[in-house]
Amino acid sequence: MKGHDGSYLLFSLGTAVIGSLQFGYNTGVINAPEQKLRSFFNDTWVERYGEPISPGVCTIVWSVAVAIFSVGGMVGSFSVGVMANRFGRRRSMFLVNCLAVIGGLLMGFSTICSSYEMVIAGRLVIGLFCGLFTGLTPMYVGEVSPTPLRGAFGTLHQLGVVVGILIAQVFGLESLLGSAKLWPLLLALTVAPAILQCILLPFCPESPRFLLINLKQEEQARKALVRLRGSEDVSKDLQEMKEESAKMAMEKKVTILELFRSASYRQPLLIAVMLQLSQQLSGINAVFYYSTGIFESAGVKKPIYATIGAGVVNTIFTVVSLFLVEKAGRRSLHLLGLGGMAISALLMTISLLLKTLPGMSYVAITAVMLFVAMFELGPGPIPWFIVAELFSQGPRPAAMAVAGCCNWTANFLVGMSFPKLEELCGPWVFLIFMAFLILFFIFTFIKVPETRGKTFDEIARSFGGAPPPTSSSIEDPPATASAATTLPASPVKE
Ligand code: GLC
Repeated sequence: MKGHDGSYLLFSLGTAVIGSLQFGYNTGVINAPEQKLRSFFNDTWVERYGEPISPGVCTIVWSVAVAIFSVGGMVGSFSVGVMANRFGRRRSMFLVNCLAVIGGLLMGFSTICSSYEMVIAGRLVIGLFCGLFTGLTPMYVGEVSPTPLRGAFGTLHQLGVVVGILIAQVFGLESLLGSAKLWPLLLALTVAPAILQCILLPFCPESPRFLLINLKQEEQARKALVRLRGSEDVSKDLQEMKEESAKMAMEKKVTILELFRSASYRQPLLIAVMLQLSQQLSGINAVFYYSTGIFESAGVKKPIYATIGAGVVNTIFTVVSLFLVEKAGRRSLHLLGLGGMAISALLMTISLLLKTLPGMSYVAITAVMLFVAMFELGPGPIPWFIVAELFSQGPRPAAMAVAGCCNWTANFLVGMSFPKLEELCGPWVFLIFMAFLILFFIFTFIKVPETRGKTFDEIARSFGGAPPPTSSSIEDPPATASAATTLPASPVKE
């Protein structure tokens, strides 16, 4: 970092990461108050129809309330490109917070209005909000960070997510906001960070990259850079952006349709999508949405504390991965994570099957912790940033939209089906995830190249696409790039 202490940059990053925190909070918040929500559904049912809700219908309403969050996420993540280009990064973040207010209020007033539909509607709106932020935060963070620190700051997004989950778990304690009376407030609390972010955002700069490359406002971009870097001399950064701008002009934007049609993108797209699926079909959110219930069925006395323990392990191992990823490499960490998760899933199954034996609840807790730790080593953070490495400037936004949408879709499938699967399979349910984990392990072993320290040129070559003429590293994008690497019109075999 040049010049001063970089506190303004950290302030801007911290403000943006409130969005990641919100995504994590709303992912984790539904876990602890499960029983309270179920009895609220029942009370509403009795009030309306004069009879208790059937267990089957209650499970369906509960699963919908959990999983509709991801439907919103799918739509939100898919629309992020359009919004960020139309309103800019900063204004988009500001506007998107309206959704948090609407969603939070819907959920917060659901008991007063005796309407479980309001919980479901609120979760949908909050999902939309989080889907948008899973694109907006990483984009803003990446764009305001100085090049040498872009990777390190990029991981702040996942760190924000895991801290958000942890906060939700702690606030979900019965003695705090997880009580039968206060759970609506627990769900509505997401309004507070939204308001905080809206107060702070006007003090943050718009992304200089957006100002220069999209709006061609060089002077504004320079001013923003001077504040962010704490130094008058920002000519190097400006020069780099101008080169990127020139490169963008050469690299035609690739639409999602073109992305699917061109043979040269087939291989990286398959890898990007499979890695996103490996993240979600690993079953991680079965744990983060439902762990309290899982621990309960394993005979754990105070399941909520085990859930919080999982959140702490989750946070610690995200930090571990942050330090390991440039040393051990993406491929090895992803393989290690998937393999470790598969073993943990087996261990979890055994502990659930033998839960009557003494001490088995400790095995269950250990298995869940190991599962979460292994997830954060590789499958948690890596799928998000490897997509950007696999694609060059032209097709990158389309690839990120497709990858993000696949992630949220798989998130939805797991969230929706897990309670039903658990009912059907009982203690065997985690073997389904084990099977997926083994499949993704094999896929990663055969298909996924190591991208650490490789140049774009080398990555493109490994997929058989025409490489850019200049050889530059991932951290240092090429000053000029041939349109041939990214245009679908390039001479590639269809
Ligand atoms: C990743 C996943 C998210 C999951 C979280 C757990 O951010 O995208 O679905 O809940 O990790 O830490």
